[in-house]
Amino acid sequence: MVIGVPFVLHVIIGVIPREIGNLHKLEILYLQFNQLSGSIPEELFNISTLAEVSIARNSLSGSLPSSSGYWRTNLELLNLAGNNIGGVIPTSISNSSFLKRLYLNYNKFSGQIPNSLGDLRHLEVLVLSNNSLSSPHLSIFASLASCTSLIEIKLENNPLNAALPEYIANLSTSIINFYLDRCDIRGQIPLGIGNLSNLNTLSLSRNDLTGSVPTTLCNLHILQRVNLAYNRLSRPLPECLCKLPELGLVDLSYNRISGFIPSCIGNATSLRNIYLNSNRITNIPMSLWSLKDLLVLHLSNNSLVGSIPPELGKLKAITSIILSRNHLSGSIPSTVGDLQNLLYLSLAFNELQGSIPDSLGKMISLESANLSNNILSGTIPKSLESLRYLKNFNVSFNRLEGEIPSEGPFLNFTSQSFMGNEELCGGLLFRPCMTRSFHHSRRSKLLLIILVSLGAAVMVLGSIIVFMLRRRRNRNIPTQAESFATTTPARISYIEIERATQGFDQCNLLGSGGFGTVYKGMFANGMTLAIKVFNLQIEGALKSFDAECEVLRNLRHRNLTKVISSCTNLDFKALLLEYMPNGSLEQWLHSDDRFLNMIQRLDIMIDVAFALEYLHHGYETVVVHSDLKPSNVLLDEKLVGYVSDFGLTKLLGEGESIAHTKTLATMGYIAPEYGSVGLVSRRCDVYSYGIMLMETFTRKRPYDEMFDENLSMRSWVCNSVPAMPEDIIDVTLMEPEKTHFQEKLHCVSSILELALHCTTESPNERLNMIEVLANIKKIKLEFLCK
Ligand SMILES: *[C@@H]1O[C@H](CO)[C@@H](O)[C@H](O)[C@H]1NC(C)=O
Ligand SMILES: *[C@@H]1O[C@H](CO)[C@@H](O)[C@H](O)[C@H]1NC(C)=O
Ligand SMILES: *[C@@H]1O[C@H](CO)[C@@H](O)[C@H](O)[C@H]1NC(C)=O
Ligand SMILES: *[C@@H]1O[C@H](CO)[C@@H](O)[C@H](O)[C@H]1NC(C)=O
Ligand SMILES: *[C@@H]1O[C@H](CO)[C@@H](O)[C@H](O)[C@H]1NC(C)=O
Ligand SMILES: *[C@@H]1O[C@H](CO)[C@@H](O)[C@H](O)[C@H]1NC(C)=O
Ligand SMILES: *[C@@H]1O[C@H](CO)[C@@H](O)[C@H](O)[C@H]1NC(C)=O
Repeated sequence: MVIGVPFVLHVIIGVIPREIGNLHKLEILYLQFNQLSGSIPEELFNISTLAEVSIARNSLSGSLPSSSGYWRTNLELLNLAGNNIGGVIPTSISNSSFLKRLYLNYNKFSGQIPNSLGDLRHLEVLVLSNNSLSSPHLSIFASLASCTSLIEIKLENNPLNAALPEYIANLSTSIINFYLDRCDIRGQIPLGIGNLSNLNTLSLSRNDLTGSVPTTLCNLHILQRVNLAYNRLSRPLPECLCKLPELGLVDLSYNRISGFIPSCIGNATSLRNIYLNSNRITNIPMSLWSLKDLLVLHLSNNSLVGSIPPELGKLKAITSIILSRNHLSGSIPSTVGDLQNLLYLSLAFNELQGSIPDSLGKMISLESANLSNNILSGTIPKSLESLRYLKNFNVSFNRLEGEIPSEGPFLNFTSQSFMGNEELCGGLLFRPCMTRSFHHSRRSKLLLIILVSLGAAVMVLGSIIVFMLRRRRNRNIPTQAESFATTTPARISYIEIERATQGFDQCNLLGSGGFGTVYKGMFANGMTLAIKVFNLQIEGALKSFDAECEVLRNLRHRNLTKVISSCTNLDFKALLLEYMPNGSLEQWLHSDDRFLNMIQRLDIMIDVAFALEYLHHGYETVVVHSDLKPSNVLLDEKLVGYVSDFGLTKLLGEGESIAHTKTLATMGYIAPEYGSVGLVSRRCDVYSYGIMLMETFTRKRPYDEMFDENLSMRSWVCNSVPAMPEDIIDVTLMEPEKTHFQEKLHCVSSILELALHCTTESPNERLNMIEVLANIKKIKLEFLCK
């Protein structure tokens, strides 16, 4: 139970009083995210009991006490990040010998990084980035060698001005993250880097590194992110990189990497982001196109030759392809239309020929397409008018002709998008197209003459043929129900179900809900299915069965549970669904032995958004789920999310956007207008989705006992975002690796803000699922890109 108003935003201003030193038993001091100014009273660092201090993100100045006598504390955490504290980091800080986590980033510290930090035997996290610190010959790395618990070293943006010493190999193998970007590091990357065998992130961008990417990097078997952008590294990429099983991000942009991308890259299936722009690479190996989970491929400004193969269409997950400023030739393959997640496409400044494929109009997520400065011909396909997110479009300096489309996004494009195409016309700002050309009129005249001369006899014959054709067509086109029947195996009998569930044994029980129970069933043919048995005694169960059949029969989507078959007798009704070995999102969120990380949660909520977007906007009738909650989101073996349980689903007829209902969905997740007057619309689902977003990232149920009529889940979130999201975020999300704290914080903040836009009191102010999906995809992209 919550007492008081702990979630109201307080900001403390002024200075920290000297008297704080009188608190002889002070252990924990948290004052982050306020507007405190002045210097930190020296007395604070003479409190021997002090264990955790965080005064990050204030406006503190002054310096830290350096005379002996201070710092004999119990400090484990000292976080002063984001202030204006200057002077040197005192050597005596090491008398706080229990120090585990030290954050002094974003301040004005100068002078040498004290080598005494090496005396801190418990040190885990050392973050000194964004100061003016130095360390002659990087001797700090020799001292830190004795810190055997180190996990993270971040020294970015300090004028270290030295070469990386070989004794970097002496650092503890416990190190997971190593950031030394913008530090004026020169010379080669020492081979010893390969001894840091637990390294997960290596970031050395914007230095002056030369030589090649060392092959010892391939000894780092759990390496996930390598950022060496903006250096002077040369020679081809080492082939052994393909063997790193976890490698997700490679950023070697703005270097002098030459030659071939190794052809084994297709085996590096963990790759998500490849940034190799501005190098001297000459080929894209065929196998690269088989990386079906790749999100980003940036290869602009290299020396690529050859054509783009149709296999491009296999990059199903990709969101960004930038291949501009190369020497690519041939035509744009029509399979480009298969890239349904692509947001950014640039093929500018190449030698591409042929026409712009019609299929480009299928790239529903596309926001930006730059095809300028090629040799493209033909017309701009009218299909592009349906690209509703397209904001930037450039086909300047090609050989395009014909009428510029004028609808949809083209309403907003200026002539800047179409320059240097002599034969283009129409559009909003271009010269008008000439009316009906000579060819047309001649052809139609000819047609008229033939028709007239053939006379009435032909017309009679013609109508007979048409009549016969119609009859045949009517017979051959199957109805939707029939086509469903052909893709579904025959009905399964009660006996088979009874056997498969060992007589509906409790040990096969997967769960039970409003209208029945779900069992796991193993069938004679080896198939494992989930069997939803409707309890026909309960009022509404039959209707629920019918609703669910109706929905699942007609809908097909990657993120909706598939119905395999059904069993229906007079007194027994069951649906046979795909079995989901990983249970539900609810089970994952609220159990102590399972854990979903940031990306997994994001991915699952993106899956749910995909499913809802399809239900709301992608199918001929509007489908409202009406009972969205984490227990209705099932997870397959790869943790892909599936929206399930369509028992309360409403199919809204044509032109209908709201329905009345009496069936009650689950408390906590239902929109106010649904709860009070029973109005069902797509916006109700959006509301439930918003609540689910909050639950997924705070791990609080909307009906948690801390919420009541005075404090709803929404207002709780609203009070903490964006100022203090860390107060409400699921701590387990931040815990397992305390790394990327800020990135995670920022990401969750954005998610919770999105959730607030989904849950406004007034349905009309809520986003729709198209917008929600676009937003959450963007949030993920931002998170992955830093
Ligand atoms: C720190 O506190 C001790 C007593 O707890 C006192 O003797 C000592 O003088 C103080 N040191 C400084 C520098 O104030
Ligand atoms: C720790 O404190 C003692 C006593 O004040 C001082 O002599 C010594 O230099 C300090 N150690 C460090 C590493 O500063
Ligand atoms: C690094 O470790 C080696 C032994 O593993 C030792 O010989 C060498 O002196 C160490 N280098 C430094 C700078 O500590
Ligand atoms: C680094 O690894 C190499 C090869 O595995 C080994 O010979 C060397 O002793 C290691 N260096 C340190 C300081 O552990
Ligand atoms: C990819 O891996 C498989 C087996 O691990 C291997 O047989 C194949 O040669 C590899 N492909 C490339 C291009 O290296
Ligand atoms: C055109 O731009 C305006 C303002 O940027 C935007 O609100 C509108 O939706 C755009 N229209 C289309 C059709 O993209
Ligand atoms: C399209 O590309 C041309 C040439 O590169 C450039 O001048 C023009 O500004 C671009 N148009 C837009 C809308 O970005």
